[in-house]
Amino acid sequence: MTEDKGVSMEAAKKNQVKNGIREENGESTPYIVKIKVNGILHELKVGYDIQPSHTLAHVLRENLGFTGLKVACDEGACGACTVIMDGKAVLSCMTLAIEADGREILTIEGLDKNDPVVEAFAEQSEPGYGTAIQCGYCTPGFVMSARALLDKNPDPSMEEVKEALSGHLCRCGCYPAIAHAVVHASEKIAAKGGSKNE
Ligand code: FES
Ligand code: FES
Repeated sequence: MTEDKGVSMEAAKKNQVKNGIREENGESTPYIVKIKVNGILHELKVGYDIQPSHTLAHVLRENLGFTGLKVACDEGACGACTVIMDGKAVLSCMTLAIEADGREILTIEGLDKNDPVVEAFAEQSEPGYGTAIQCGYCTPGFVMSARALLDKNPDPSMEEVKEALSGHLCRCGCYPAIAHAVVHASEKIAAKGGSKNE
């Protein structure tokens, strides 16, 4: 057993990934990050297409052209860069692209145009609450967090909606209308008899 452990540690030392280059049995090969975005697989060579320090937000926008997500603060404080990774809302400015290797990403471009959340945000205009969208800069992030919430919990309470959206900032101050739009999206989902884009 001790010998096996020694052999595998030796193998691990030989197969290191450093600065995007995989050292395998003395040979150097570029490490390839594979990320599925909106159902399509993308392969990116570390050290060539992307750098190890690149964030998922940077790679989605600059390498792959998914500019729906916004980078407002670039430090995890506003939620504008939110995407869904393996079913969970994540801040793409706080996630390294290499951390997304082997994961599935959903950006706002991947939502159906009839997605109940998108429809509810677009339609929201209630007396006393106003619209859910003014300048729209925060909207993709709110929509993706709302989508992740409703995928898990199609009938959230207002408290659960507020909790799910608590990491997002809207400089235009649309918070009450945004929360109501998410509730209306859940009503649309119920009316359609499902929990996803059905
Ligand atoms: S840009 Fe990512 S949280 Fe603000
Ligand atoms: S609508 Fe302008 S920042 Fe939210």
